[in-house]
Amino acid sequence: MKINGTQYRTIWLKEGGPATLQAIDQRFLPHEFHIEDMRTVEEVARAIREMHLRGAPLIGSAAAYGMYLALASPPEEVTNIWEYISQTAQLLMDTRPTAVNLAYAVGRVLAAIEKEDDVAKIPGIALQEAHKITEESVEHCRLIGEHGLEIIKDISKKKKGKTVNILTHCNAGWLACIDYGTATAPIYAAHDAGIDVHVWVDETRPRNQGAHLTAFELLHHGVPHTVITDNTGGHLMQHGMVDLVLVGSDRTTRRGDVANKIGTYLKALAAKDNEVPFYVALPSTSFDFGLRDGIKEIPIEERNPDEVSYVHGWFNGKIYKVRISPQDSQAANYAFDVTPARLVTGLITERGACRATERGISKLFPEAK
Ligand code: MRU
Repeated sequence: MKINGTQYRTIWLKEGGPATLQAIDQRFLPHEFHIEDMRTVEEVARAIREMHLRGAPLIGSAAAYGMYLALASPPEEVTNIWEYISQTAQLLMDTRPTAVNLAYAVGRVLAAIEKEDDVAKIPGIALQEAHKITEESVEHCRLIGEHGLEIIKDISKKKKGKTVNILTHCNAGWLACIDYGTATAPIYAAHDAGIDVHVWVDETRPRNQGAHLTAFELLHHGVPHTVITDNTGGHLMQHGMVDLVLVGSDRTTRRGDVANKIGTYLKALAAKDNEVPFYVALPSTSFDFGLRDGIKEIPIEERNPDEVSYVHGWFNGKIYKVRISPQDSQAANYAFDVTPARLVTGLITERGACRATERGISKLFPEAK
């Protein structure tokens, strides 16, 4: 992804000097572009918890590098390295509960280092694994783009080349990943292939990932788009103005129930009612094959109610925070919801597209069994 002509990924290790993780700090987008330096695992954990960086694949990669930073310079008082490693893993896994990529990435680093007897070699192994997870993640997103492109191509053909209108929720773009994005990868691929696409971008209250981040990405890639309020999608679908709903996922069960940003479920209901295809783009690292019933089993993050009571906006070169509800009104902030598999037309993964059923998923991913 290019920003003002410069090629970026969302996260990388700084070259030279003491071990430093760098990431695009998403809190200031789209108005300001900041890169954050993180030198300790505590800084990485804070960045994930407070959403300086966010999106399922990206927090997985950040956590893997967090494990490396912890191992590269453990505090002097540490006497039992394995106890310290397990506390560090827990610190990272406790930052955000819904996206399974976090536990996946930490688990992979743990599995890689546990095989090593020579403690001096452990930081290097953790680093290698973090790099591997990150590179795999980029490749998964690229392939999701290739497979999803076929779906958009089909719609474009049926519409005889007229604009394909795609609705997306939250930011499942390259900012949520390392590059390409999940839901946006097929959109970028279609746009680059010369297909006429237009994206309806849900603003995605309370944190406005759509208005802030997805719009920013699409703008920089030159993809035509329109920001809408979260309540607009149903109306657009009733009037034939949406050809495809395409979203990401933070955790998907082995039968295809999908946890994603709060409000995704309502989009799926409206899509079903209006016979609009509803696809979920996700890498294998966002599956939790250990779970079946997403509504009962996926933990849903509850965040600070202030995110609902206040909005942030840009005015005269500064970001302001303003209250929008009565001072004494309570607010609730459920960050994710679960869309049952029966509302999902299909899943787009790095191995291809499949139905959101136990059979469909296990055909592509035999390991799901
Ligand atoms: O709370 P966030 O912003 O981390 O939520 C992100 C989403 O819900 C994305 O849609 C999801 O992680 C898929 S990202 C490729």
